[in-house]
Amino acid sequence: MRNHGLSQKDVNDKLTRIIKKDTNFNSGKILGSMCTTPHSFSQKIYSKYLEKNIGDPGLILGTQKLENDSIRMIGSLLSYPDAIGNVVSGGTEANIIALWTARNYSNTSNAEVILPSHSHHSFDKAADILGLKLIKIPSKNGIMDVNHIEKKITRNTILMIGVAGNTPLGLIDPIDELSDLAIKFSIPLHVDASFGGFIIPFLRKSEYKIPEFDFSLPGVYSIVVDPHKMGMAPIPSSCILFRNSKFLNSISSNVDYLSGGQKPRKTLLGTSPGASIISLWALMNFLGKDGYSKIALRCMKNTQYLYEKLNTISGINIIQKPVLNIIGFKFRKIPNQLLAKKIRKQGWAISVFPTHIRLVIMPHINRQHIDNFIDSLSR
Ligand SMILES: Cc1ncc(COP(=O)(O)O)c(C=O)c1O
Repeated sequence: MRNHGLSQKDVNDKLTRIIKKDTNFNSGKILGSMCTTPHSFSQKIYSKYLEKNIGDPGLILGTQKLENDSIRMIGSLLSYPDAIGNVVSGGTEANIIALWTARNYSNTSNAEVILPSHSHHSFDKAADILGLKLIKIPSKNGIMDVNHIEKKITRNTILMIGVAGNTPLGLIDPIDELSDLAIKFSIPLHVDASFGGFIIPFLRKSEYKIPEFDFSLPGVYSIVVDPHKMGMAPIPSSCILFRNSKFLNSISSNVDYLSGGQKPRKTLLGTSPGASIISLWALMNFLGKDGYSKIALRCMKNTQYLYEKLNTISGINIIQKPVLNIIGFKFRKIPNQLLAKKIRKQGWAISVFPTHIRLVIMPHINRQHIDNFIDSLSR
């Protein structure tokens, strides 16, 4: 740090020069991210409440009420308005909390968790931190092959996981069949809808035929939904929802010193932005289901447009017909890494998986961006 500060103008000029190196969503070049430009209304609200720290909840009782209201609103989207839970930093923290609470509640040594092999790596992190063994079930056509599950269930199995909108292809595991197994073996089911949670409920209300994935299925015990992905809320924003307080009560904290006089929330982080809660609440109230449905349908129409355009390019192989706004493809004769290098050289930010390249058609992507991408790919 320098001894004497610069003028605000000098700092701003310097900052602007450096920040220019970042790739922005509005360039239309980011086709691989599950995040997007936060809605302008939520940006405004967020910037008004920067001082709020939900890590000391007793100080900000209004914000705490907004958190409870937000969880109820999302709970009702997921067929269970009585859900309880918290707004946390991201899908990673939320998944860690799901496994943490399940582990503590089960009180089982050598605890095992059954999950699809395509699960997000946040579960590997969680298992490493919590000392859990992950039993990974192979995928068939991109979704969890439930036929392999029953023989993997043991008396150490404390939790099963299904994904609604998976990381590689945006596909949805057969959550209804997982729920049946969960009931049959009395094992709770956690659904990672980090990506899918803010699009599937709106598509289900329109012409898209997407099966049930939420608390309407009796085996589903907890769900993660990330407003900072398809919810267009400012980063960081994720929600962990539980059917009841059974698991959450298994993580207790004896901290009494917080200045607001309340114990900390049952989450992983301490100091955390109350602005995330406030801006999420405001955005959900502003957009309503109609606003979110419009965003979801527009993304799906653009996905269909991209899918049709990709299909016209010779040599291309689309891994699965998209179910949500994610497409995976490869070229039959070009190794993935080589293809990715070529695409990235043209300025596109795409995600590379061992089997394919992933495109996520988020709200910041329009048809002109898609045409530009197709032009680059055809060159
Ligand atoms: C299915 C799924 N779960 C969890 C996560 C982790 O979310 P975050 O990056 O917000 O921690 C992701 C991120 O891409 C994801 O795709």
